[in-house]
Amino acid sequence: MSVMRIIRLHMCAALVAASAVAACGGASDATGVSPEKTCQQDPTQAKCVVVTPVDTTSLRTLAARSNRFIGAAAGSLFGTNPTFDATLKREFNIVTPENSMKWSSIHGVSRAVYSFDAPDALVAFAEANGMKVRGHNLAWHNQNASWVTNGTWTAATLTDVLQEHIATVVGRYKGRIAQWDVVNEAIDDSGKLRVAESVWGRVIGPSYIETAFRAARAADPDAILAYNDYSLEFPGVKQDSAFALLQRLKAAGVPIDQIGFQAHFQINADGSGVPSKQALIDVFNRFAGLGLKVAITELDIRVRTSPAASAAELAAQTNGYSTVVQACLAVPACTTIVTWGVTDAASWVPGTFPGYGDALLFDSAFNKKATYTAVKTALGG
Ligand code: XIL
Repeated sequence: MSVMRIIRLHMCAALVAASAVAACGGASDATGVSPEKTCQQDPTQAKCVVVTPVDTTSLRTLAARSNRFIGAAAGSLFGTNPTFDATLKREFNIVTPENSMKWSSIHGVSRAVYSFDAPDALVAFAEANGMKVRGHNLAWHNQNASWVTNGTWTAATLTDVLQEHIATVVGRYKGRIAQWDVVNEAIDDSGKLRVAESVWGRVIGPSYIETAFRAARAADPDAILAYNDYSLEFPGVKQDSAFALLQRLKAAGVPIDQIGFQAHFQINADGSGVPSKQALIDVFNRFAGLGLKVAITELDIRVRTSPAASAAELAAQTNGYSTVVQACLAVPACTTIVTWGVTDAASWVPGTFPGYGDALLFDSAFNKKATYTAVKTALGG
């Protein structure tokens, strides 16, 4: 028997002994060595051994069977609400910090001061629970640090600031953050590069994008680097503009590995709002044709809450989740699906889109919704 095996048996016995729910009863998934492994009675031996897997029903177990990551954004409930944390680790094998790695959070005080406590805790949680992390994000026009947006810069001095930030943040988590949203929402709704509203675009110009990707690659050569944006799921000027940008950057040898489709959808009164499965497959393949991996990075599908959504609208929402997952599974380049939150109780939607909500997989009491079942079924569960 190998040393590792002995250690694992020992850990297993200790876990079982410590647990009120005796996993050796064979029915519990409460005491896992990792979420895909657990302790069970081996009928051929009078002791507990590590077996795989007992919980075949979580989203993460199902996604892993298709070599996909399924995840959620972790916001204010992370670390403060035990049900949130329990649900996060039970269901998901990748996590994105909803806010804690944005400039205003991680580097909001001054150039010399970083605030790593919250992101450190999330990365540690992910590692302890066999989950990957999607870092979010390194250059964005929103939630920037006020010392950056209010500072007096030249293109050269602001480029230094951007490079230093990326070297510090990506470098700190080198080898521990699998995917990074390097540049977020650089293109506006009319397909133009944001200049007036982005300090990066205004002061540095379009070259900040290339600078950010090169700095990220230098800081962690193994991280998957993404361009992330919204409304790319639909044909139109924004999608075309993002395609042209990424095509140009790839041709210039800029290190970009992944396109992130945020996928914030809204069900309309006629039930429309989520592209068809074929339309999603087509756009995923369009960007995959540039040599990019595909991720769905901030998925939520909101419905009306006042007045309440009709049964048909709720059905369209459920179908929408199924459609998105099916489309990802149909495209080999699509590796990752992240929902923008866990529970409707803490979603950004009601605050941003008044009259809309209920956009996620779990209700305000962390009950699984029909949307959860749709995702589970689409994953083969
Ligand atoms: C949102 C968060 O969910 C909110 O908590 C925060 O107040 C504002 O930002 N696109 C993005 C995300 O890339 O970072 C945004 O997250 C939602 C839109």
